[in-house]
Amino acid sequence: MIKHILITGVSSGIGRDSLRLLHNKGYYVFGSVRNITDAKKLTHEYPERFIPLIFDVQDQDAVTKASKIVFDTCDSLHALINNAGIAVPGPLQCMSEEDFVRQLDINLLAVRRITNLFLPLLGATPNFDGTPGKIINISSISGLFNSPFNGAYSISKHALESMTDVYRRELRRYGIKVIAIEPGPIKTDIWQKNLNSMEKYASTDYYDVLKKADTMIENAEKSALPVSLISTLILKCVTKKNPKTRYIVHRKKFMFKILAYYLPDKLVDWFIHKTLTSGNKHRPI
Ligand SMILES: NC(=O)c1ccc[n+]([C@@H]2O[C@H](COP(=O)([O-])OP(=O)(O)OC[C@H]3O[C@@H](n4cnc5c(N)ncnc54)[C@H](OP(=O)(O)O)[C@@H]3O)[C@@H](O)[C@H]2O)c1
Repeated sequence: MIKHILITGVSSGIGRDSLRLLHNKGYYVFGSVRNITDAKKLTHEYPERFIPLIFDVQDQDAVTKASKIVFDTCDSLHALINNAGIAVPGPLQCMSEEDFVRQLDINLLAVRRITNLFLPLLGATPNFDGTPGKIINISSISGLFNSPFNGAYSISKHALESMTDVYRRELRRYGIKVIAIEPGPIKTDIWQKNLNSMEKYASTDYYDVLKKADTMIENAEKSALPVSLISTLILKCVTKKNPKTRYIVHRKKFMFKILAYYLPDKLVDWFIHKTLTSGNKHRPI
């Protein structure tokens, strides 16, 4: 029997590679894109077992309209992969309200809106007689560790971690498994999208640190892990009967855990300050 999976944000990066892998493995994939050009390109690449859904996750009318295609095509979803996301860097003090709200709406609030819309297909309804589906949220290590000047993103991913736990505990009655994948730097376009993004803060007190941001981004990008690691992990979560509740994917996972969970806050604050103010142009984590 063909199994259906929905992935948000398949135009590039993690979403696109997951579409490639899951489609290769025989799944029928619904993938969201934001424009007709991406929809046509992907339909050409995947003429069978792929349906593009065109919506911006912030546009609930468009999401609802697209969801009708899914409800008309299948009776159940094997998995929903909440992947679409952006990173809006900048100091909390100076970031505009509009940028802050956009960050939270795309990475967090839209995840709840989309999840709730598709929950009946995942099994959260009394008369559902299929196999309960899985929800895989693409979170981040920024959901476990707060980096300065990446605050809005960290806040969105921390809240997504929380949302993942709450859904998992609430949806247990239906047998729906909810999983968070927490990647460190991964080689995708998300990095390039943020180059030169700190120029708007040039007149602020923080610019002595922020002017190194592009070099930090380039350095982080160099050490970023291949995107296939995440798509392979997504496939594992989709196929495994009992996946873990969360997966950290980081080059120095052990070091990261010590930094995030075991060192005293003040020591970590000092370490971050030292890294940001020294000539070393690496991100603290
Ligand atoms: N790359 C990393 O290092 C890393 C690390 C940790 C977590 N993550 C998370 O992984 C997820 C995917 O990111 P990525 O690295 O693959 O970045 P990416 O290549 O920039 O892909 C982001 C995807 O989200 C879509 N998207 C963005 N805003 C949207 C909106 N308003 N409505 C609908 N779709 C939207 C993009 O569509 P468009 O092409 O139309 O913009 C694109 O398909 C994100 O949630 C990100 O936070 C990434």
